[in-house]
Amino acid sequence: MHFLPEKIDEYVVAHSQEEPTLLQELNTETWQTVLNPRMLSGAYQGRLLSMLSKLIRPKNILEIGTYTGYSALCMIEGMQTDGELHTIDKNEELYDLQRKYFNKSSFGSKIHQHVGNAIDIIPTISTKFDLVFIDADKANYANYFDLVIDKMNAGGVILSDNVLWSGKVTDEVINEKDVDTKELIVYNKKINEDPRVETVLLPVRDGLTITRVK
Ligand SMILES: C[S@@+](CC[C@H](N)C(=O)[O-])C[C@H]1O[C@@H](n2cnc3c(N)ncnc32)[C@H](O)[C@@H]1O
Repeated sequence: MHFLPEKIDEYVVAHSQEEPTLLQELNTETWQTVLNPRMLSGAYQGRLLSMLSKLIRPKNILEIGTYTGYSALCMIEGMQTDGELHTIDKNEELYDLQRKYFNKSSFGSKIHQHVGNAIDIIPTISTKFDLVFIDADKANYANYFDLVIDKMNAGGVILSDNVLWSGKVTDEVINEKDVDTKELIVYNKKINEDPRVETVLLPVRDGLTITRVK
């Protein structure tokens, strides 16, 4: 969902860094061959993830929700040379496509793919992180935060995607069965009130929250 008027949105994209060739290729292959291609971060948000990572200069990165590997390849652009990126996805069918593009990049050996439920996998990774991207099932965002907060280095950053959920988080009446919206409302409040972190919600695309660990 785009919250800006189309003309302004186009201007914003036209005046932001261009999508690197490898990512253009992955973007195209995802749209041509994979179900639900809208899940891919896309060129503009990808450049934002890359820029944030370059500013943070993380040693280790954790991603929850790999999909076809697009956002992982964006964030790794800013990673320190001796760092590692761990990325988790429950869909094993995406593994080979992710690996194809990870190997085409110059970061292949630094990316560790984990297949399975993130709730089970996060506790098995003993690394401390400087950058975490939460971008999987919305109903578990608060659980993911609870699982990663003690794995963060001081000054580390947790990014959370789709926190506006097409604006549904602002609806006055939420359908009882709409678990994702209900849980995102709880999550947005939680990360803004937790004294261990400071949070700013950016109205970028579907909402991207930057949470800095004190
Ligand atoms: C929005 S997509 C991720 C998009 C990717 N980060 C990007 O920007 O290109 C969400 C992914 O989370 C995965 N996922 C959903 N629930 C999960 C869970 N419980 N554990 C691990 N992965 C999950 C899905 O299979 C899907 O590939």
